[in-house]
Amino acid sequence: MGREILNVQVGQAGNQVGEAFWHMLLAEHGLDTSGNYHGSDPQQLERLNVYFTEVDISGSADKYVPRSVQVDLESGVCDRIKSGSLGRLFRPDTFIHGESGAGNNWAKGYYTEGAELVDNILEVVRRQTEGYDALQGFQLIHSLGGGTGAGLGTLLLSKIREEFPDRMLATFSVLPSPKVSETVVEPYNAILSTNQLIDSSDLSICIDNEALYEITTRTLKVKNPAFDTLNEVVARVMCGVSTSLRFPGQLNGDLRKLALNLIPFPRLHFLMPSYAPFYDPNAKSFQMSSIPELTQSLFDRKNLLVACDPRFGRYLTAYTIFRGKVSSKEAEYAVQQLQTKNSSQFVEWIPDNISVGLCSVPPVGQKQAATCLANSTAIQELFKRTHGQFAAMYKRKAFLHWYTGEGMEEMEFTEAESNVQDLIAEYQQYQEATVDDEEGEYEYEGEEADGNASVVSDAPLEEE
Ligand code: GTP
Ligand code: MG
Repeated sequence: MGREILNVQVGQAGNQVGEAFWHMLLAEHGLDTSGNYHGSDPQQLERLNVYFTEVDISGSADKYVPRSVQVDLESGVCDRIKSGSLGRLFRPDTFIHGESGAGNNWAKGYYTEGAELVDNILEVVRRQTEGYDALQGFQLIHSLGGGTGAGLGTLLLSKIREEFPDRMLATFSVLPSPKVSETVVEPYNAILSTNQLIDSSDLSICIDNEALYEITTRTLKVKNPAFDTLNEVVARVMCGVSTSLRFPGQLNGDLRKLALNLIPFPRLHFLMPSYAPFYDPNAKSFQMSSIPELTQSLFDRKNLLVACDPRFGRYLTAYTIFRGKVSSKEAEYAVQQLQTKNSSQFVEWIPDNISVGLCSVPPVGQKQAATCLANSTAIQELFKRTHGQFAAMYKRKAFLHWYTGEGMEEMEFTEAESNVQDLIAEYQQYQEATVDDEEGEYEYEGEEADGNASVVSDAPLEEE
């Protein structure tokens, strides 16, 4: 029985992160870079059809081909993938690219260059899903800071929603950081995209380049990390997050169940992942962490893929998954202890809001590791940071002519801004909500970029 997911990767970040993801997925499932199986664990094969199509090749062993479509408005990144080590893995007819690029301009991705290509892409998407047994949904990998992944990516998402209204739409969305990229208009692109994601995605997993930069420089001690290094971390986290979709198990076995358990209100579907321990291939000695230590790390800001402090917010829900030889009793106990010790950081009006999953197949290169996917009101920090940068420029209408020149109305900037401000206010409202209060109204009007949020609980999560 299939429960297929079609991956769609758009733009430079989308395709580069996607390539790293597929590399790691192959390794986890015992496949080589041509899609041939060499593994020995039946668990690797049991649900392989979620992300791979099995192709019969007469006279030789079956080959597994990614369910994936690669899109860009310029040819460079797609060409690099085709001539790289995964060049023979993807179906050649699933690459679609333009020639000119969107030059960091969201309006070119959404309204002009991208809009011209979108029907072709939909045609390829349609063709890919035709033979599926029971398509569960789509996952889009893209950045929010450029023109293509952000503009065309979100346009494509709304078109897919129209055509497949009852399928799940998940995104892995890379948020911009001045520490990684210096293009000034990224906050514009990010707010315009977030506005789209609020309405057309079911579940968006936020990957913040600011956090990736901190993790790679501080934890992994890499000086001036290149995208490859960042993407290796992202791939590991994506594999962690998708564990329950790909391996046998009881909990959160498909995208709909995952969303059901994590998303109490439809607009608040922006999730922050965390991972522990981070994998350092150069570390000489490998130390095993105890399960309580792993659990502790998952809720520590240093292990979050979003640069925000969970102590500034409250967890609405969280899903932890432990991989390797871990007993369910031990994992459940560690999570329960953590929650009891830090109870003020979890809303009390959703009882049992952390779920615990297990998978005995460990991640590549590690004996055990854990991933958490959390819905925390602390994520408002990310949107406040991006909005702060947006608002500073928008006040002076700086760079706006590049967007209006593509036929975009200035009104759309104002609408996007207020949609994101409403989202921030909603997070704040649920952060303050208690079991028995009246529903309050809260309005967010913007503040200095680094905010002045108050700490919900000053008892810090104990550090190791
Ligand atoms: P255009 O090139 O403008 O047409 O769109 P695009 O979607 O190709 O742009 P891109 O994905 O390069 O978007 C720029 C944003 O993505 C910036 O915030 C970059 O820091 C970030 N970015 C680009 N490539 C990567 C990558 O491989 N990994 C990560 N983590 N971020 C990336
Ligand atoms: Mg590009």
